[in-house]
Amino acid sequence: MMNFSKDFINYISSHSSPEDSLLQELTRATHLHAMQARMLSGHIQGKFLEFISKMISPSNILEIGTFTGYSAICLAQGLTSGGILHTIDIDDELRYLAEHFISRSSAGNKIRLYTGDALKIIPQMDILFDLVFIDGDKREYTAYYSLVIEKVRKGGYIIADNVLWSGKVLDSNVKSNDKFTVELLKFNDLVQNDSRVENLLLPVRDGMMLIRIS
Ligand SMILES: C[S@@+](CC[C@H](N)C(=O)[O-])C[C@H]1O[C@@H](n2cnc3c(N)ncnc32)[C@H](O)[C@@H]1O
Repeated sequence: MMNFSKDFINYISSHSSPEDSLLQELTRATHLHAMQARMLSGHIQGKFLEFISKMISPSNILEIGTFTGYSAICLAQGLTSGGILHTIDIDDELRYLAEHFISRSSAGNKIRLYTGDALKIIPQMDILFDLVFIDGDKREYTAYYSLVIEKVRKGGYIIADNVLWSGKVLDSNVKSNDKFTVELLKFNDLVQNDSRVENLLLPVRDGMMLIRIS
């Protein structure tokens, strides 16, 4: 989380549309059943993703990193009537939780869950995406980017989460064995220097890189 005071965060939450009761329930269940519940998007980031998706009205969304399904449920809100969100997670342990909440969400019938390594599954997908949400293993961000950039239509978008990595990207003494920070620095530079895209790094939560294929 960026360095906002608790009061500031409360003010932001209380002046944004409230979190859906299903998502509140999902948050509680995630805290009960998952080790790293803080990985879940949460109220403001979830609303942000929902808004972006509603603005784009995508027919095909790809998500890397389902976890318990919070961001998938939010992103699916903006899909066109026949639209599909494809979400991949390498870990099958929490799939039952994601399935349970996705099936109860309003756009649940538009969400397809894949269990496996996104790096192996994406090359087999013959789909042109309007929107991709990258939220998997931070050490694989450049690999995800290289795979998905070919599968996003011109004028489509990629959003990558956690690109400020709690401010560690500013650390002038990043250790080479801190693979997470090293990779995120590489990813941010790769996007910044990619002439195929326009990009905007937003300080929402842990930093979100918005990328448009031009
Ligand atoms: C930060 S969590 C995703 C949070 C979720 N998007 C949300 O907002 O609630 C990251 C997830 O990526 C998954 N993951 C890590 N490496 C992966 C890979 N190579 N392919 C697919 N999923 C991966 C992890 O198992 C984990 O559940």
